[in-house]
Amino acid sequence: MIPQSFIQDLLHRVDIVDVIDRHVKLKRAGANYVACCPFHSEKSPSFTVSQTKQFYHCFGCGAHGTAVGFLMEYSGLGFVEAVKDLAQNIGMVVPEERTEQSQRRYGEGADYESGENLNEIMLTAAQFYRGALKDAPQAIEYLKKRGLSGDIAKKFGVGYAPEGWQNLERAFSNYQSKALTTLGLVKQNDEGRRYDIFRDRIMFPIVDVRGNVIGFGGRVLDTGEPKYLNSPETPLFEKGRELYGLYQARRAIRDAGRVIVVEGYMDVVALAQHGVEYAVATLGTATTPMHVQKLLRQTDEIVYCFDGDNAGRRAAWRALENSLGQLADGKQVRFLFLPQGEDPDTYVRQHGKAAFETLLDDAIPLSQFLLNDLSSRVDRSTSEGRARLLQEAKPLIKAIAAPMLSLMLRKQLADLAGFTQQELDNEFQIKPQPRAAPASRRPPPVQRSIALSVIELLVLDPAFAKCVDRGQLAQGLGLPGVDQPELRALDRLLEVLGENKDDNKLNIGEFFRDTAYAEMFAVVEAGTLRWQEDGLSGEALEAEFMGAWRQLLDRIRRARISAFLEKSRQGSWSAEEQSQFLLLQQEVTAVTPK
Ligand code: GTP
Ligand code: MN
Repeated sequence: MIPQSFIQDLLHRVDIVDVIDRHVKLKRAGANYVACCPFHSEKSPSFTVSQTKQFYHCFGCGAHGTAVGFLMEYSGLGFVEAVKDLAQNIGMVVPEERTEQSQRRYGEGADYESGENLNEIMLTAAQFYRGALKDAPQAIEYLKKRGLSGDIAKKFGVGYAPEGWQNLERAFSNYQSKALTTLGLVKQNDEGRRYDIFRDRIMFPIVDVRGNVIGFGGRVLDTGEPKYLNSPETPLFEKGRELYGLYQARRAIRDAGRVIVVEGYMDVVALAQHGVEYAVATLGTATTPMHVQKLLRQTDEIVYCFDGDNAGRRAAWRALENSLGQLADGKQVRFLFLPQGEDPDTYVRQHGKAAFETLLDDAIPLSQFLLNDLSSRVDRSTSEGRARLLQEAKPLIKAIAAPMLSLMLRKQLADLAGFTQQELDNEFQIKPQPRAAPASRRPPPVQRSIALSVIELLVLDPAFAKCVDRGQLAQGLGLPGVDQPELRALDRLLEVLGENKDDNKLNIGEFFRDTAYAEMFAVVEAGTLRWQEDGLSGEALEAEFMGAWRQLLDRIRRARISAFLEKSRQGSWSAEEQSQFLLLQQEVTAVTPK
C-alpha cells in the first residue's frame, strides 16, 4: 500500500510530458502536446498530453490516464512497479507504509472492516496456496500431467489448497475475521463453525490489471463436483469486468496486435505454455460489453475462440451481441471455432503454436459470422423467410457503433434479402449519413450534463470550489430528475478539494484511481481539453462556472419541487414543508430568466 500522499508528491515532481516523450515523441500544440496514439493505429495525431493537468487523453481510442497510468498501459507494468519506476528516475524512495491511518484514508477496500486490507488478505491467501503446492506432490503431478512447467505455474501464481477444513487458520492470525467470509475464502456453518471454501483444489489466482489478487478459481484434481469453484463477487471482484490472464498478457497483446478470448483458465495457461501469450479468459460468465471495451482499448483485434459445440456457438453469439456496441471502424472482432471435442488447451498441446496461430489467422470476421448465423435460421427462398431475416438482423445492425461496418453489413444483408440498401435503411429507420466531416480531433458535440460541466470547470480550476456551497448540492442527492452519478461525483470532488486546499495541483486521475469515480473523471479530464480549446480563461471561465453552477442548483430546486408535488399526492404537507415549497418556487422564478 503506497500512501496517496506519496503518489501526489511524486506526480508533482515528475512531468508527464517527459515521461511519455521518452517512449513516444511528442510535439507541442498550443498549451498541450500531441502524438500519434501508441495505443491504437492512426495517421494523424489524436493523442494529447496536458502538461498543466498532467494527464494524457486519446480522442481516437479513449485511452486516458496519468504518468503512472501511461507506464502501466504502455510498458505493461503493475501499479506499484510503475510508481517505483517513476520514483527511481527522480531519486525518490517509495515508502511501503501500511499504517492503519494511511489505509483508512487511501485504500479502496482498505477500510472495509476495522482497517483490514482486502487486497493484502487475498495476497496472503495466494501466497499460502503457492507455498502449499510445493508440499503437494499429487498436485504437482497433476499440473505436469497437463503439460505445465514450473515456470508457467509461477508466472500465473498457480497454487494448491490442501485437503482439510481449516488450513487457512495457518495463514491468517485471525481466522474469525469477517473479511475472510466477505472475500469468499471462508464459510461459516449454522453452528457457527468456520471452514475453508477451497479444499484439495488447484488454485488459479485471478489478478486485476494492477497485479492485485482479487479472486480464485479452484479446480478439482481429477474428478469431482464442481469441476471449478470460483470466488463469488466481492468488493474486489466483479466478474463482468475482469478477465483471467490479462495482467500477464498485456505486453504480449500489444506485441501481437491482438488478443484471444477463451473460456477456461487452463486454456490461457496452456496457450502461454506453448508460446501463445496473448490469451485471456472470461470467468465463467458471458463476455460483457465491459470486457470488450477493456480489450479494445489495448488492441485493435479480438479473436474469440470457442469450442465447436452448441454451447460454444451460443457463447460466441452472446459475445457477438455484446461486442456490437463497442466496435469502431478500424477495430476487428473475429471468431474461431475449434473442431468438435477440442479446446484451446487440448489443441495447442497436440498441434503446437504454429498450427494454432494458423487457425487464428483464418478466424471468421464478425460480419460473416453474423450473416451466416442469421441466414441459417431462416428459409431465404420464401418472402416470409427473408422478412424474418431482416427482422432478426434489425436490432443487431442498429446496435453497431461503427458506421462503415454497419453500412457494409446493410449492403450485404440487403443483397441476401433481395432488397436495395435504400429500402433496407428505410425499413430499419436508418437516416442517410451525411458525408463524413473532415477528420477533427474534436469529438462530436454531445448534450452535456450540466453537473458534468460544473465538474469539468472545477477540475480545470479547483479555486472555483471557494465560490460554492456543498450543502446546497446535497439537497439534490437521491432526487429523481438530477443526474445522480454526476452529483455524487461532484459532491465527492468538493469534499476532496476541501480536504486538499493547500494542494493546487492535486492529480485527480491518480486520486480517484480504482474508485467508483475513476471512469467519470477520465471523461471529465477529456472535457477540460474542450474548455481549453474554447480559449476561455480568467474571469470568463469563472463566469461559465458560476453560470453552470446556478443552472445546476436550479435543476436541483426543480427536482425538489417535483418531489414535494409527488409527496402531496400521497398525503398532506406539514406547515414546514409548505413554506419550504413556497420558498423554492420563488427561488426558481427568481433565477430562471425567460
Ligand atoms: P479443464 O477440464 O481444466 O480443461 O477445464 P476447461 O478450462 O476446459 O473448462 P471448461 O471448458 O469445462 O469450462 C470453462 C470455464 O468455465 C472454466 O475455466 C471455469 O471458469 C468455468 N467452469 C467450468 N466448470 C465449472 C463448474 O463446475 N462451476 C463453475 N462455477 N464454473 C465452471
Ligand atoms: Mn479444457
